[in-house]
Amino acid sequence: MTDLAYLQPTQRVNVREVFGIDADMTVPAFAERDGHVPELDRAYRFNPQATLAILAGFAHNRRVVLQGLHGTGKSTHIEQVAARLNWPCVRVNLDGHISRLDLVGKDAIVLRDGQQVTEFQEGILPWALQRPMAMVFDEYDAGRPDVMFVIQRVLEREGSFTLLDQKRVIQPHPCFRLFATMNTLGQGNLSGLYHGTQLLNHAQLDRWNLVTSLDYLPPAEEAAIVLARVPALDTEQGRRQVRAMVALASLTRKGFAVGDLSLLMSPRTVITWAENTEIFQNLDVAFHLSFLNKCEPAERGIVAEYFQRCFDAELQAWAEPDMALHHAL
Ligand SMILES: Nc1ncnc2c1ncn2[C@@H]1O[C@H](COP(=O)(O)OP(=O)(O)OP(=O)(O)O)[C@@H](O)[C@H]1O
Ligand SMILES: [Mg+2]
Repeated sequence: MTDLAYLQPTQRVNVREVFGIDADMTVPAFAERDGHVPELDRAYRFNPQATLAILAGFAHNRRVVLQGLHGTGKSTHIEQVAARLNWPCVRVNLDGHISRLDLVGKDAIVLRDGQQVTEFQEGILPWALQRPMAMVFDEYDAGRPDVMFVIQRVLEREGSFTLLDQKRVIQPHPCFRLFATMNTLGQGNLSGLYHGTQLLNHAQLDRWNLVTSLDYLPPAEEAAIVLARVPALDTEQGRRQVRAMVALASLTRKGFAVGDLSLLMSPRTVITWAENTEIFQNLDVAFHLSFLNKCEPAERGIVAEYFQRCFDAELQAWAEPDMALHHAL
């Protein structure tokens, strides 16, 4: 086993200083940055409720699930907390392709001293379980039922894990932590937005200790995130433009809520649009490529009208961008 298993949190991080949250709380942290600690993103903006839930998960070994619409920052939120605690972290996407064997492990043929031998290769779950590791199950509501039952066993805090084929019982490392993110509340695809999600077993949902939602931020916050991501827009004119972009995104969310649109613009799309504006040096072209082309043709008129309202100018029809992209490539 690597040295990682012997790492211990030896420090405490002050929540007020590091996360800017008004709470008298310190959380354990590691002094060393192992290779599994996520990259620090200084531009990340924490949402107090979600951050506190995640921090409680780290400090008190609570199982935390973050629910929310797509692109609201669920996965990155957990990573960015881990990055500030130097807590190693692995993300596993529980899309429909992950199988029980991927998670638990399987017999594999390996070469040993020039001989082919069959050896059990541990899956990601037993591997992480024995280490000080925050494991994040992304798209938890899309996991296959066989996979979900494997996870159920480790959801309990002291939950030991039996590798049946190996006749081995694994005790979780005291610093193993478990998180999940999902778009639905485990009741399936009620909004019609999240095709491929499953109904979650209630015994399973019951085992999560803390549930928090991350939804769209107030417009000013969202604009600040976009500006932090694309600092070139941080000028008088750029800030005005970003405010209008966020206003347009809000209109698509309202339009979606009342059934006028079948697609909404997530914060991730707003960031992508801002980045694409930099690449193409053209707001309208970037808008076509980042969002409009994803919309149903019948709904594009409504979106163009939102654009007009927010920018006080007609959305330009699609035209080949006149730009120096070829030179950039
Ligand atoms: N609070 C924030 N501060 C800075 N950047 C953010 C914030 N929230 C989201 N982002 C950015 O938005 C993008 C989407 O975030 P993320 O992938 O975490 O969303 P998600 O909620 O997990 O989405 P999905 O449901 O699609 O998995 C990322 O590029 C992330 O850096
Ligand atoms: Mg995610």
